[in-house]
Amino acid sequence: MELPFSQSCENNKDPILAVLQKHLVADGHRQPSRVLEIAGGTGQHAVHFTTHMPWLHWQSSDVPEQIETLNIRLRAAAKANLPLALPLDVTQQDWRVNSFDAVFTANSLHIMPASAVVEFFRRLNGVIESGGHLCIYGPFKYEGDFTTPSNAQFDLRLKSRNPLSGIRDFEWVNELAGEAGLTLLEDNAMPANNQLLVWKK
Ligand SMILES: C[S@@+](CC[C@H](N)C(=O)[O-])C[C@H]1O[C@@H](n2cnc3c(N)ncnc32)[C@H](O)[C@@H]1O
Repeated sequence: MELPFSQSCENNKDPILAVLQKHLVADGHRQPSRVLEIAGGTGQHAVHFTTHMPWLHWQSSDVPEQIETLNIRLRAAAKANLPLALPLDVTQQDWRVNSFDAVFTANSLHIMPASAVVEFFRRLNGVIESGGHLCIYGPFKYEGDFTTPSNAQFDLRLKSRNPLSGIRDFEWVNELAGEAGLTLLEDNAMPANNQLLVWKK
């Protein structure tokens, strides 16, 4: 069966891995830790990261309508530390998950409406353990400005598909993270005009 595929995932998975490897460890040791992935998409990140960080137990998820596609790749990978993905829409009242040492999401905050971003951060509070991490990859604006003209064009394309989509302001996202008890550790500039933001609870 053909596996779901995204070229951008293929391009960004190694740069993201290099940053995650610094943070998704316990007290500097590669001890088992549990990660919840929101908006898993094609599953390429989940498979790549669990291959290169075998100490992680990676629970991927996505909105119910994406689960079947996501699980094609996870099922094919058949890895003990990568269970099948859970249906999880960040706007649902109860995420029906236990707590995790880290939450990871890539390229999702600019797709979902701003109201869903608010709900994402509101519900995170009970999900990340104290001392745990939140890692968010994607494009951001700073003080209202796009980091590059190509991100400004990307924002227009997003809004033409869905007026509620759009590149989010870093300051706004960081404020929501603060309200969820998270402190920014790093803002990593990544290839292709993206950032990888890392917070700690
Ligand atoms: C551009 S794709 C990114 C997928 C993958 N993380 C990647 O980097 O390739 C956006 C993802 O956001 C998910 N998404 C959109 N709205 C969501 C919501 N309310 N809750 C959870 N996931 C959502 C979509 O289903 C899709 O998988």
